[in-house]
Amino acid sequence: MNFQLTEEHLAVQAAAREFAQNELLPGVIERDEHQKFPAEQIKKMGELGFMGMMVDPKYNGGGMDAVSYVLAMEEISKVDASASVVMSVNNSLVCWGIEQYGTEEQKQKYLTRLATGEIIGAFCLSEPEAGSDATSQRTTAEDKGDYYLLNGTKNWITNGSTASVYIVIAQTDVAKGHRGINALIVERGAEGFVIGPKENKLGIRGSDTHSLMFTDVKVPKENRIGEDGFGFKFAMSTLAGGRIGIASQALGIASGAYELAVKYAKERKAFGVEIAKHQAIQFKLADMATNIEAARLLCLQAAHDKDTHQDYGKSGAMAKLFASKVAMETTVEAVQVHGGYGFVKEYHVERLMRDAKITQIYEGTSEIQKIVISRELLK
Ligand code: CAA
Ligand code: FAD
Repeated sequence: MNFQLTEEHLAVQAAAREFAQNELLPGVIERDEHQKFPAEQIKKMGELGFMGMMVDPKYNGGGMDAVSYVLAMEEISKVDASASVVMSVNNSLVCWGIEQYGTEEQKQKYLTRLATGEIIGAFCLSEPEAGSDATSQRTTAEDKGDYYLLNGTKNWITNGSTASVYIVIAQTDVAKGHRGINALIVERGAEGFVIGPKENKLGIRGSDTHSLMFTDVKVPKENRIGEDGFGFKFAMSTLAGGRIGIASQALGIASGAYELAVKYAKERKAFGVEIAKHQAIQFKLADMATNIEAARLLCLQAAHDKDTHQDYGKSGAMAKLFASKVAMETTVEAVQVHGGYGFVKEYHVERLMRDAKITQIYEGTSEIQKIVISRELLK
């Protein structure tokens, strides 16, 4: 692996950093407090090419590599993890899934608009009774000839009320187990499709998380992604790349908290000197920086594996497992460095600490990442 970032990588990183500082930072505390979706900011992110970064330019995407995506995700997540989860779901779950496995018609109809951020997408796998154990889902897509009849409930769906396009994973033939599952594109406004209330969350409060109810929703056959029965493999394969996005989100949350801790430690005085002069604080910063560097290298390794068409299931899971742990530990320590000021909203670190937790839960909990990693190791 070449650790040298190219001019293009550095330019993407700088553009994302500038956008985050100028457009996301103002208002991030209020959006968190009032659970306000960053609608205007997401629109601008689309205009700047952050919503379909890796999509082929022929479908209006940025044609960039996964390393660029990691760099941009880190910068956006340093400031606003609610905006970055919208970006991650749209890029790595929805755009990638349709580009990789969709038909040309699906790409023309949906991907060309998803890639510019004109519309955003949602990925609907989890259910009230089936999260980690994803094959146990109960939503059904009954084959009715030229359409599927969709019935069931999906839970915790990111972009739940703001998406226009929903990829819904559902059972067509329970007897076939995971080979009886299909992935269907459902449009917002379809008859029988109801969006439940917004979840009131600990973190990433600016993102909109909803349950979705489907009652006799007719989904045309041409909206199925891949062959009949490919839905579970579609979900697993798509999530393998999604985990690189969430790992980078965790990396950004950690590095954002670290940068704030360094700045504060150089300003705040106690016992006559800046607290950065106390070795206990210096050691905290040294641990944070070392862990963040290791997490960054794991994220870049996974992205490099993806860019070079190698298997990235294990490296992506390792990156997510490690970076999410680093995000949790670093943000807790960043609050500690800030003392009492870390406990109030104005200093940002308490929000980053709340936002960090979700990175150990969604797109596969840390325990599930260990299952994915160990299965690969023991193959
Ligand atoms: N690519 C392609 N196929 C894959 C695959 C991959 N990465 N991983 C597994 N498969 C295939 C397997 O090969 C197998 O097919 P065959 O039988 O034909 O070989 C099939 O999928 C079933 O695999 P397993 O037997 O491993 O399935 P399992 O029931 O033991 O579950 C699991 C494995 C890893 C635990 C899986 O259920 C899982 O990942 N659970 C976590 C669910 C998850 O991550 N949800 C996230 C929801 S989206 C989200 O959260 C978004 C957000 O927050 C923003
Ligand atoms: P469970 O599966 O019930 O797990 C509970 C605990 O048991 C966890 O600690 C878990 O690690 C552990 N556990 C379960 N099985 C095992 C095992 N075999 N070995 C060891 N430990 C185990 N889902 C989507 O489909 N789309 C989305 O857009 C989406 N966005 C989300 C946004 C938010 C804010 C949240 C909170 C969730 C989101 N999810 C989404 C759902 C998320 O992916 C699930 O919450 C997650 O996969 C865990 O499932 P669960 O909540 O049912 O927990």
